[in-house]
Amino acid sequence: MDIRFNQAEARYDGRIVLHPLTLSLTERRIGIIGLNGSGKTTFARMINGLVSPTSGSVTVNGLDTVKDLDRSRAQTGFIFQNPQNQIILPLLKDDIALGLKAQKLSKTEVDQAVTAILARFGIGHLADRRAHELSGGELQLAAFASVLVSGPQILIMDEPTNQLDLKNRNLVERTIDELSEDVIVISHDLPLVAGLDRLLLFHEGRIAADGRPEEVIARYREIAG
Ligand SMILES: Nc1ncnc2c1ncn2[C@@H]1O[C@H](COP(=O)(O)OP(=O)(O)O)[C@@H](O)[C@H]1O
Ligand SMILES: [Mg+2]
Repeated sequence: MDIRFNQAEARYDGRIVLHPLTLSLTERRIGIIGLNGSGKTTFARMINGLVSPTSGSVTVNGLDTVKDLDRSRAQTGFIFQNPQNQIILPLLKDDIALGLKAQKLSKTEVDQAVTAILARFGIGHLADRRAHELSGGELQLAAFASVLVSGPQILIMDEPTNQLDLKNRNLVERTIDELSEDVIVISHDLPLVAGLDRLLLFHEGRIAADGRPEEVIARYREIAG
């Protein structure tokens, strides 16, 4: 991945939530930690253009998230904090097919792509199930399939293990480990982020630590008190 923040700032209703930030993200697997309200989700939403910088700019693989929103957004997939909100259409297979709408494929090509992505995550048997009938772990795998079917290079996840029991949490960790896509993961699950290439610690809208996970987690423990 090649993500650059150039003096990028974010405000909501004039209130600053991300102080002007300059950094580049080029590692394959990056984690984000920090207290509630520290700006993690805002930072992630700026990467996929859901939040525009109030000053400065953000580019993803060289594409500006404001001037080139559509092409820039196609670089990333975003798994929201509540995967319930990810699946829009009742049947999982229809929802996943929706992710391919922009690509002008034939019905056969769409069916093949949906079958292939469900198989990749081992959930082919869920194709005709309704999203609200899925368990937490199934829902999270369905969210992976629904977001990755369109082929983004970078997957951004906002607290993907938050609501899961230990078994499903472990399943999601293994799934993330095996992804061929680059990964940005926001999490309070410290064992999940401990093995990543780089960790960012947000605190009060700024980056308080950035580097190897052990050091950044140690700083987080100091801040949390
Ligand atoms: N849509 C919004 N409108 C107004 N304030 C918001 C909005 N989203 C987040 N905030 C505020 O911005 C700050 C950072 O929030 P957020 O990025 O969600 O933090 P985190 O993900 O680290 O918990 C918080 O003070 C939060 O209340
Ligand atoms: Mg958040």
